[in-house]
Amino acid sequence: MRIFSGIQPTGSKHLGNYIGAIVQYVAGQERGEGIYCIVDLHATTVAYEPAELRVDSYDLAALLLAAGLDPKRCTFFRQSDVPEHAELAWMLASVTAYGDLQRMHQFKDKSARQRELVSAGLFTYPVLMAADVLAYRTDEVPVGDDQRQHIELMRDVAERFNGRFGEVFVVPEGRYPQVGARIMDLQEPDRKMSTTGGSEAGVVHVLDTPNEILKKFRSAVTDSGSDVRRATDKPGISNLIEILAATSGTPMEEIEQQFVDSGYGAFKTAVAEAVIDYLAPVRERYGELRRDEPGLELVLAEGAEKARAIAAETVADARRAMGLGPVRAHR
Ligand code: TYM
Repeated sequence: MRIFSGIQPTGSKHLGNYIGAIVQYVAGQERGEGIYCIVDLHATTVAYEPAELRVDSYDLAALLLAAGLDPKRCTFFRQSDVPEHAELAWMLASVTAYGDLQRMHQFKDKSARQRELVSAGLFTYPVLMAADVLAYRTDEVPVGDDQRQHIELMRDVAERFNGRFGEVFVVPEGRYPQVGARIMDLQEPDRKMSTTGGSEAGVVHVLDTPNEILKKFRSAVTDSGSDVRRATDKPGISNLIEILAATSGTPMEEIEQQFVDSGYGAFKTAVAEAVIDYLAPVRERYGELRRDEPGLELVLAEGAEKARAIAAETVADARRAMGLGPVRAHR
């Protein structure tokens, strides 16, 4: 079973990324052949600083290693080091419907936020995502809930390509965590936690200090009433219950029983403490890993070599199927 996922080197990574995605990457190393990618090409689709992008990619590499990715047990690389992703994206664009891309929520949201250029890259972003996944003939893609539409699109693209040119690609399945697939902003619990557009107080970063984490949870927006239970009209408390469940491994029903007699204050402190314990080991390991930039570069370069061996084979098959180049493609 092959597992692939990608993550953007933009902004600092938050608790939503960690619970919704990163934890599943680490678990994927045990369940199958994990392939994980820092998607720096995707990060160029909105305004950005070149020097910062390189630094952010190292930050993210160190963070993922600190979280438990082990280059001996998975393939871990930077997208732009494997040119097959961009090549395949062009090829897949010819079997992607323009109308489907126009319907993507993420494109609508992000293009509305751009002050200057709305790039064609932002529009075709999901095609590059499809290329990332299909290049590895991936069975399963662990992601958070916000990526559902992109996963559906890549499945359609794979099916359309296979139907038109012959069976080249595996049609991948999304894998969404049962608890924590959509972690919400602590200040605005009806929007997802995100570094773009969220308030600083509503977003818990993986590398926040224990004190910062405590403060953010203590000031989290809750609802009127005092019951610690999940309900649609209690998005703040429901989100905190979900965070506690994900970080402590306790079922949500049990948490509701446990806190039946306590007020919101004590509950919020308990959630903060669980999150602090949960993230502490990552923060501890991060510093040392981040200092060794040549070491990070070496890990990514070795990963890219492993990834390229797989992707090049798939792309050669796709070229042949599409009638590009000689019958036996020499690369
Ligand atoms: P990115 O970098 O925005 O987010 C990385 C992962 O974190 C998940 N996530 C969340 N999960 C739960 N609650 C939240 N509030 C939350 N916010 C983010 C995302 O679902 C994602 O899994 N387009 C992708 C990157 C990508 C990719 C791919 C993913 C590029 N190519 C191929 C899978 C396969 C993205 O922007 O992720």
